[in-house]
Parts: sequence; C-alpha cells; structure tokens
Amino acid sequence: MSYRTEYDQSMKDPEGFWRKQAEALEWFKFPKQILSLDNDGLGYWFADGEMNTAYMALDHHVKNGRGKQTALIYDSPVTNTKLSYTYAELTDAVARTAGMLTNMGVVKGDRVIIYMPMIPESVIAMLAVARLGAIHSVVFGGFAPPELAVRIDDAKPKLILTASCGIEIKRVVEYKPLIDRAIELAKHKPQYCIIYQRPQATATLMEGRDYDWKTLLANAQPVGCTTVKGSDPLYILYTSGTTGKPKGVLRENGGHAVALKYSMKAIYNVEPGDVYWASSDVGWVVGHSYIVYGPLLHGCTTIVYEGKPIMTPDAGALWRVCDEYGVKALFTAPTAFRAVKKEDPNATLMKKHNLGKLKVIYSAGERLDPPTEAWLTDNSNKPVVDHWWQTETGWAITANLQGVEPMQIKPGSSTVPVPGFNVQILDENGQQVPRGSQGYIALKLPLPPACLNHVWGDENKFRESYLTFLPGYYTSGDGGYIDEDGYVFVMGRVDDVINVAGHRLSTGEIEEVIATHPAVAECAVIARDDDLKGQVPMGLVLLKSGVTIAEEDLKKELISRIRETIGAITCYKDTVILARLPKTRSGKTLRKTLANIVNGKPYMVPSTIDDPGVIPEIIEVLRSKQIIA
Ligand code: COA
Ligand code: AMP
Repeated sequence: MSYRTEYDQSMKDPEGFWRKQAEALEWFKFPKQILSLDNDGLGYWFADGEMNTAYMALDHHVKNGRGKQTALIYDSPVTNTKLSYTYAELTDAVARTAGMLTNMGVVKGDRVIIYMPMIPESVIAMLAVARLGAIHSVVFGGFAPPELAVRIDDAKPKLILTASCGIEIKRVVEYKPLIDRAIELAKHKPQYCIIYQRPQATATLMEGRDYDWKTLLANAQPVGCTTVKGSDPLYILYTSGTTGKPKGVLRENGGHAVALKYSMKAIYNVEPGDVYWASSDVGWVVGHSYIVYGPLLHGCTTIVYEGKPIMTPDAGALWRVCDEYGVKALFTAPTAFRAVKKEDPNATLMKKHNLGKLKVIYSAGERLDPPTEAWLTDNSNKPVVDHWWQTETGWAITANLQGVEPMQIKPGSSTVPVPGFNVQILDENGQQVPRGSQGYIALKLPLPPACLNHVWGDENKFRESYLTFLPGYYTSGDGGYIDEDGYVFVMGRVDDVINVAGHRLSTGEIEEVIATHPAVAECAVIARDDDLKGQVPMGLVLLKSGVTIAEEDLKKELISRIRETIGAITCYKDTVILARLPKTRSGKTLRKTLANIVNGKPYMVPSTIDDPGVIPEIIEVLRSKQIIA
C-alpha cells in the first residue's frame, strides 16, 4: 500500500483504521468504543476494551509458540555481562516479580516508582507493575534527589524499586544515598523500597522500609495478569515543561498497545522474531516505547544495553552490538552518532563489523543535523531515518515509514506525518501559514492512539500546556515548516525547553536553581549550540548589588548546585556575569535574542525593548570572554 492511501485512510476513517490495527493484539474483551470524543475534540481510544499490556507483550507470545524465542538480550560492557531471556523466561520472571509486588501490597491503580540502571530487572519491573494493573513511573537514574523527590510527591508511589548502583563510564553511582535523600526531601513517604543489590556497590538497608529484591523474589509466587480497561493508565512519565515543575504524562493502556504494535511494522519495518535495538534508557520515552513495549508487543527481540556509544570500550560499540546480535533496526539519538563520528571520523570501527542484517538506522530525540546524517549514510550505506516525536505522543509524529512505503530522504527533514497525525503549521492566531513558511507545529485534534489525554493529577495543566494556545489543536512546542512536497522540517522548540544530548530540560528549572545562589539577583538561561550535545545550557547572571564574587567561583558553585539539584545530565558549564539583561518594557527577558547573539545567529531587537543600549553592552562582554567572535 502507498503511504498516501494509508495516511488518507487514517484521516477519513480513523475508527475503521485503528479498529483494524487493534485486531492485531490479543484483548480479553475487544473494545466496542474505538474512539470517543470530548467537547474539546480530544480522542479517547479503546476505552472499554479489556486487556493487560504485559499479557499482550509476553504471555500472548508464549501461548502462540514464541516461548523459546529470545525476548531480551542484556549486554553490559561496563560489567562484562551478556545474558538473554526467552519469552517463556521473561514471562516467568515478570510473573514472579509481580508476585513479589503483590506480597508487598501493590494492587491495581497503585503507583510504583522505578529508579534503576539499564539492567533486565528494570524492564521486568515495568512489566510486573503493568501485569498488576498498577502504574509505573520510571525516573531516569541520572536525576538528582530533589528531582526524584518532586516525582515522589506528585506520583505518590506505594513503593520504590531501585538498585544499589548504576555504572557510568568513570564512576559507580550509588543509588541508595540518592533514594534516601529524595525520600527525606519528599512530603509523601513511600511505604517500601525494594533494592536490587549489584556487586559493584552494596546498599545498606533501612529496617522496616528497605527490602532486598532477591530475597523477596525467592519467596514470591508467579501471579497472573490483572484485567484493565483500555482507558486505564499504564504509566506516568515526567517530562520537562516551561516551568520548574515537570509534567507527568499519563499513558493509557489501550491506545498505547495499539499504536506501538502498528509502529513496529509501519515505521520500523520489523517482523516478529527480528532483533530491534533502541539504544536509549528506560528512563526516557524512547526506552519505554522501544526498549520495552513496542518490540515485545510485536514479538521481537529487544536489547538492554548498559553502556555508551563511545568509551565502552570504544566508538565501535553500536556496530559491535548490531553485528553480534543481528540487529535489523537500530534507533538512537543524534548525539550518540555525533560522539561516534568525532571519535571515529573515518568509520574504521564501523567497517570492522558485519552490518549485513542492519537494514535501517533511526534517529530521534533532537533534529538529525545534515552533516551527521551524511556521515552515517555514506559510511553505513543504509537509509538513515530521522523521525520526530515527544514524550507526550509516545511514538513518532513524522517519519519515513519504511514498512509502508520508503520515501526519498531529505536531509534536515523528519519526512511526513505518520498515519493518524494531522500536522499543521499555524501562526499565533491559529491560521495556517503558506507552505515553506515557519510557524508553530500543531496537531489537529483528535490525536491518534497512545498520545496523552491527561497530565497526572493536573487537568488544568494539561489543557493550559497543550490545548489553550491554539484551540482545536495540540500545541507541540516545536516550530518548523512543511515544504512543497509535504515534508516536515522541525527546527526546534519555540518555548523554554532545551534539548541536551537528546535529554529534554527546562531552562526555567535551571534558572530556579541559579536563583537560589545568594549572590544572584537575576538570571536567564539560554541554550548554547554545542557540536556534540546539540545544545548546552548557559547562565547569564546579574549579581545582587554590593556582592562581589569572581566569575570562576560563581561558575563552579552553580555547576555543583545544578548537578546536585537536577543532575549531571544538565551538562551545565557556562556562567557569564552581566550588568543588565535585555528586557521588554513589560519586564520580559529577551531570551531568544540573547540565544541568537550567543550562537552567532541573526537576531531581532523587538521594538518593545526597554533599553536598546543593553544589547551592544552584552555583545561587548561576550566578545571580551571570547564567547562570540
Ligand atoms: N546516572 C547517573 N549519571 C548519569 C547517567 C545516569 N543514568 N547518565 C548520564 N549521567 C551523567 C554522566 O556520567 C555525565 O556526568 P559527568 O558530567 O560527571 O561526566 C553527565 O551525566 C552527562 O552525561 P552524558 O550526557 O551522557 O554525557 P557523557 O559525556 O557521559 O556521554 C554521550 C556523551 C554522547 C556518549 C552521551 O551523551 C550519549 O550517549 N548520548 C545519547 C543520549 C541518548 O541515548 N538519549 C536517549 C534519548 S533518545
Ligand atoms: P522528549 O519528549 O524528551 O522526547 O523530547 C521531545 C522534543 O525533542 C521535541 O519536542 C523536539 O523538540 C525534540 N525532538 C525529538 N525528535 C526530534 C527530531 N527528530 N527532530 C527535531 N526535534 C526532535
């Protein structure tokens, strides 16, 4: 079928289109309500279907003859470990872990926070929570205790599942002190912590609150799947918005399973039995959708990789894994490819490996810059597909659909809307802009299955963040344009969200931390372009009057403050002390103008600026510090 036919069907008859896709899964009771709309035009999918996502992803395959097939490969260059689970073994491990959680009192609807490194137990934990109809909230292991505390207070988990440590390139990160600190900071106190002890660090357990995972598991019996409705929540995943407080994106079971199952063939062109590898972390949406749920719902083999694209041990890591396990589709972030390119510019390490089974390379998390795309394509001789998506959607909004109709690749574009997504470029009045002109990228409601319909516990926040600005549309927060051929070019965020090494961060949140420094009167955090990480945050700071502090000292103090409050993944390094910040007459800081100046891009000085003289003043400071030429 052509892309056009497939896409048009999804637009003309969404219910028929998605009913057909839903038939590919084993429901306990097939939904009667395929799509229900509310007054705002939001779509609720498969609300009355009865199901269990873990059943669809595991038990279903065992029942249908896939029991002996490898479901999950664990490859950990940082611990020199390789092991695998068949579908039967993974199902058993998940059922037992669900039994362990049941013994600790977890029931349908309870929240369970998972703060873990990239080990199989993380995936098992997610599926075990899903098996019980409970709601998991995975928190990326790189977040510092205050970030974890915010999530504990918001999700109010019954318990936390964690490990004694994670392993970074140069250090072992002990999780237990971070968990203890987070619980100390949080108002909500989870009843229990279950800790998976790893040999690289042993956690000391707090009596009555902390339990050893392996001991509890040894005493647990496997339990069956709890039936949930299609509209019941599967997970909450927090993501950065424009304010300091992250948003808990709520994913419902039914639409999620259907969309991911569809995407595995339509977008990634893999068949059940194929090896699919998303080199990400279960703490991010890519990890949820394409390390855990998508590949398993489709009957593929997935890979849990505990390592980096470089230095574990070298820049051939991605290709070694693809070769060793016969990966058919590889998916990672542009930063990873840029890091590999930097270390191995001639792709010598890539060429050492047999990549015969690898058909397509996928990239997302940030825009794939054309030079990196060209390097990858030229050296691998494979199609390189950039696809655009967000935590909120859970799967790709635009892509080059390899399993429907592979299309010409245009560098810089994530190709065309995925069936189900009505992508429009609008101006601030909600009017479509002409082809080729930039504007806000908006998605006409209803959204297809899997996309968020709620922010956990905050209906107003959901509506304000996504639906109010352009009525009838979901506002993506990204800007871009659609060309004459219908190709979508996503050019970057139009709000205060930045993307550091494929990790989404809020400049507002970083500003809040900087503002707590006793010497700081005011600050603006902007995204500075970075060759490796895409963007890194930079703080432009005004000191309180009468305060003197050397810029170097302030820089160091802010770095450690931000690492301790948000986490090292912020990659915060640059601080510049200024005398004034450019503002509009109503007092709004002109962050975009500042960012363009720092990045050497053409900038506009709005007529509403309070004092135009501040701009040359700032340029002079930035020049003197050799930040700009
Ligand atoms: N737990 C604790 N700390 C973590 C962490 C985790 N799970 N993940 C990252 N960090 C720390 C790192 O150790 C590093 O700390 P440091 O400043 O003390 O060295 C800091 O956070 C920054 O990490 P990172 O951005 O990963 O930088 P890096 O220099 O260690 O590695 C790359 C560079 C390019 C290899 C790495 O950024 C990468 O693999 N990027 C791909 C990202 C990706 O897969 N994104 C998924 C979204 S699709
Ligand atoms: P996250 O929710 O962490 O996945 O981040 C989503 C944001 O990352 C999007 O809103 C975009 O700004 C950016 N992003 C993700 N994929 C792409 C892509 N392929 N091209 C451009 N930007 C992307």
